[in-house]
Amino acid sequence: MEINCTGKELFLLKKISKAAEELNLPSFLIGGFVRDKIIGRPTKDADIVCLGDGISLAHQVANQFSPVPTVAYFKNFGTAQVKVHDFEVEFVGARKESYRAESRKPEVEAGTLEDDQDRRDFTINALAISLNKADFGKLIDPFDGLGDIERKLIKTPLPPLQTFSDDPLRMMRAIRFASQLGFTIDPETFQAIKDNVHRLRIVSQERITDEINKIMLSPVPSIGWDLLSKSGLLTVIFPQMMDLHGAEYIDGKGHKDNFYHTLQVLDNITEHTNDLWLRWAALLHDIGKPPTKRFEEGHGWTFHGHEVVGARMVPKIFAKLKLPMNDRMRFVQKLVELHLRPISLTKENITDSAIRRLLFDAGEDIEALMMLCRADITSKNKMKVKRYLQNFELVEERLVAVEESDKLRNWQPPITGEIIMQTFGLTPGRNVGIIKDAIREAILDGVIPNAYDEAYGFMLQKAAELNLSPIQ
Ligand code: CTP
Repeated sequence: MEINCTGKELFLLKKISKAAEELNLPSFLIGGFVRDKIIGRPTKDADIVCLGDGISLAHQVANQFSPVPTVAYFKNFGTAQVKVHDFEVEFVGARKESYRAESRKPEVEAGTLEDDQDRRDFTINALAISLNKADFGKLIDPFDGLGDIERKLIKTPLPPLQTFSDDPLRMMRAIRFASQLGFTIDPETFQAIKDNVHRLRIVSQERITDEINKIMLSPVPSIGWDLLSKSGLLTVIFPQMMDLHGAEYIDGKGHKDNFYHTLQVLDNITEHTNDLWLRWAALLHDIGKPPTKRFEEGHGWTFHGHEVVGARMVPKIFAKLKLPMNDRMRFVQKLVELHLRPISLTKENITDSAIRRLLFDAGEDIEALMMLCRADITSKNKMKVKRYLQNFELVEERLVAVEESDKLRNWQPPITGEIIMQTFGLTPGRNVGIIKDAIREAILDGVIPNAYDEAYGFMLQKAAELNLSPIQ
């Protein structure tokens, strides 16, 4: 089989072939590397399976290079890794027992290549290529993985129930590959996922979240989220997201289905950014809608305050999903909270002060926020979308103009608390806060410019109102 390897890769594969021959250990390229080469996706690391001890083979391969690269090995698992020229290769002996990358019970019986391929997750991941001298480059494909790549199909090599019992995370992997590759999941395989949803509970949250993030970073993440929902897995891993489903009607008044609206917003933003956290912000922007949904007589459906409730939900969701509880989380939270603000500025008669306040609140995340808001315009009515976008451009122009004149991004108060205390001989306390807030409000309202002298004058005036005078 001709696979499109770079010169460097081929050089390395030949070295492995040579080492394998020296040890008389038949060896094969297997898994993601083979799959991605056939599909034409970029590859980063390669898995080698050999009929014997993978760790010995790794050392033998390392010895072919000078200086000899380090071999990282895990005796319990019988696996070893070698990194040559930024290219990581993992070695493992063929196994008869279940393939368990992260099992705590590593006792596995040595097996043939066929045994090893049987125990892999999907036919497209069970393709092997011989590295042996006699048939170097030959594709060994017992489950027609090549055909499944052509048919764009995710399918387990063995009956799905068996493959999924070996490692229930594979149910998530099936959906992740479908989302990454734009493949469909074979009906029997998908049915088995539906039937075994509960088994995901034994899988660690970290492994599940790794798959979720891979779905988030895929070219059309809605594919993955929709499959998570349809399979029932979403109810287990992220029930608040399921609550977005459904469009209710009362007195002929409906609202859009917030689940599919959210997925549309996520896909929209995905076209413009690879930033995982901005994509998370898109996914969570309306998460506060189900708990705030009300029907108001004569008016229709409302979701008042959903942005505030949603922002409050973000830390809990991040904690449950074991996503980082750091500035990334705060970024997502901020965007969820502010996501209605730019749209509200598309109405007429918006003052510079409102624009200034948005710049002040969004700070350095203003571009990310504007991107989210653009993505949020999903009406089916093309005229409406066009009108919104036009108004939106006006807001953007005004943002640029106000930012240029007022420099409010990453705003630092021209008069600090220190200056206030020194001027009036104060210790930290209420009056310092009152003066500081008053200066900030005056700048945001455009009463004074964002500059030291004017702010100083304003400080004196405000202090006088509080019966404070400068100490000298
Ligand atoms: N594998 C498996 N079951 C798992 C995990 C992995 O059968 N739960 C097998 C598959 O053959 C897979 C190979 O191990 O191709 C390598 O696994 P991994 O590196 O996790 O996935 P890749 O297929 O390489 O894809 P990616 O790098 O995109 O995760």
